[in-house]
Amino acid sequence: MLPLVTAVRYVTPLREGGSLPGIVEADDLGTYVMKFHGAGQGRKALVAEVVAGELGRRLGLRVPRLVVIDLDPLIGRHEPDPDVQDLLKASTGWNLGVDYLPRSFGFDPLGWEVDAAFASRVLWFDAFIGNVDRSWRNPNLLVWHGDVWLIDHGASLIFHHAWANAARLFSGPYDVDDHVLAPRATELAAAEAEFAPQITEDLLRDVVALVPDAWLDGEPGFDGPGAVRDAYVEILLKRAAEPRTWLPSLDAAANRPRTAPRRGANRPGRLGGPA
Ligand SMILES: Nc1ncnc2c1ncn2[C@@H]1O[C@H](COP(=O)(O)OP(=O)(O)O)[C@@H](O)[C@H]1O
Ligand SMILES: [Mg+2]
Repeated sequence: MLPLVTAVRYVTPLREGGSLPGIVEADDLGTYVMKFHGAGQGRKALVAEVVAGELGRRLGLRVPRLVVIDLDPLIGRHEPDPDVQDLLKASTGWNLGVDYLPRSFGFDPLGWEVDAAFASRVLWFDAFIGNVDRSWRNPNLLVWHGDVWLIDHGASLIFHHAWANAARLFSGPYDVDDHVLAPRATELAAAEAEFAPQITEDLLRDVVALVPDAWLDGEPGFDGPGAVRDAYVEILLKRAAEPRTWLPSLDAAANRPRTAPRRGANRPGRLGGPA
């Protein structure tokens, strides 16, 4: 399992995100963005964060370090917002901690250059995990010390919301239209050649082993957490193999205009970055 720490101080809620994550300090002296099992998407969002995030890390993408944080809601008793109080009370026990990247800022595609290799690697990865949360409006990418970091994978692996139809749900083509890096992702074939062979059963087993049993227990239709882990491995291993029917059309991604998004609320030119 991921390292386990205990929250000692609730610092502040993060209102940029839909799930009202909070910044907490833990007994290992770390500062984390805590994502709560009692939030709207529930513990499945946390499982997706771990499985997808740790897979991304093993493929060489930058993902902040993940931990499990034990929460006693009493640490937030002075927080005045009743929504935060409710969330903390609903999230007693084990939650996800994402290493806090201090003074990072949100990635803006019009203000920060990324190269084609990087854009293609991120797009291939997002297509593999079925991530719908890397859009123009909400890229879930942070710029920190000059590098782009990937966060918020809770809306990937949607098949786990309907295990009975998982294979069908997870085989359709990935929609690149909204993806923030699609206009730059002109080297998808190279990204595929790099990543697909790395996604082995051993790698997937390592990744699902990091998920705490508590987030997998009692899953309807499964005989315990081990069986749920096997199901993640099976479906992801199959997705990594040929034929990759979910892969976006390489031409469609490569031919996308390299200028402004067709829709989106990003403010141009605000950030500036290396050419
Ligand atoms: N590791 C981190 N370091 C710094 N800021 C973060 C980190 N993770 C998230 N944030 C900030 O918090 C916001 C919400 O986090 P996110 O994981 O996207 O949650 P949500 O699922 O609610 O969208 C992000 O958009 C970002 O501004
Ligand atoms: Mg987000």
